[in-house]
Amino acid sequence: MPQNHTHSHAHGHAHSQAHAHNHAHQHDHQDLADILDLDAEVLHEHLTEVMAWVHEQTGDVATVLDLGAGTGAGTLALARRFPGATVTAVDVSPQMLQYLRHKAHAAGLADRIRTVEADLDGADSTGADGTKAADADLVWAANSLHHLADPVASLARIRGAIRPGGHLVAFEMDAFPRFLPGDELETRCHEAVTAMRAGDMPHLGADWGPLLRAAGFTVQAQRRFEIDLEPPLPEATGRYAQTSLRRLRQGLEGKLSPEDLTALEALAEVVPTRPDLTVQARRTAWIATP
Ligand SMILES: C[S@@+](CC[C@H](N)C(=O)[O-])C[C@H]1O[C@@H](n2cnc3c(N)ncnc32)[C@H](O)[C@@H]1O
Repeated sequence: MPQNHTHSHAHGHAHSQAHAHNHAHQHDHQDLADILDLDAEVLHEHLTEVMAWVHEQTGDVATVLDLGAGTGAGTLALARRFPGATVTAVDVSPQMLQYLRHKAHAAGLADRIRTVEADLDGADSTGADGTKAADADLVWAANSLHHLADPVASLARIRGAIRPGGHLVAFEMDAFPRFLPGDELETRCHEAVTAMRAGDMPHLGADWGPLLRAAGFTVQAQRRFEIDLEPPLPEATGRYAQTSLRRLRQGLEGKLSPEDLTALEALAEVVPTRPDLTVQARRTAWIATP
């Protein structure tokens, strides 16, 4: 992903701090973008299966909104699954959207994909650039709803952006993927992350059925996708596991013992070559109507 260096030179202390912060932020951003791309590559077949299931439920559609689109894994899969549709990718991050546009071009899909920078926590979340709200036949939100401050309030606004007869798909991970079943260090890391997320991201792993109903939706179908990748693994799996464990490590400073943190760093280095490497992921999709 191309780095987007918006800052130029640091002059003086305050500026330097902003500069450092910006750098940290951009690295964080880069890591997330890398993981989203690797996730899309490693779980490609599974996303295709999810899209096929969505298509069975909705039939063909003309307009799609991808909310919290990130690097566009879902956007591109939607554009391919619904060849007659235009897909609008919405994200709060301009860097993600810039990268998504590159990918849409590279995939030859740019004529049907557009991007809108908007904060889904805000009141204008789906109509940010003047898009008529009641415009989408299908709204797809993958692993983005749990980031929202008040998902029910946002979902209620999103509901108003869906045409009569249209659908919303919420697709959420139950937990972060696991790579080494039975590995005690990985288990401790996940427990620490779960404890942290319970405070700052309380809707991660939630049952979205009741939340969708609270926002006025009717849930039409729910399906759990269990992913257990065993060898032979997709080529990118080692990098996916490594990048994920490194990112996990960054977030766990002070939350694990120093010994565990050091061991986690070492594990991230060798994980691509571990013979017991697998991918276990649990994700659930809810299809709802307004
Ligand atoms: C975990 S990523 C998922 C990306 C993509 N849907 C996928 O499945 O690969 C979450 C995305 O939601 C975006 N996001 C988080 N909070 C948001 C908000 N308040 N408004 C819009 N986008 C948001 C982030 O910038 C990020 O790109």
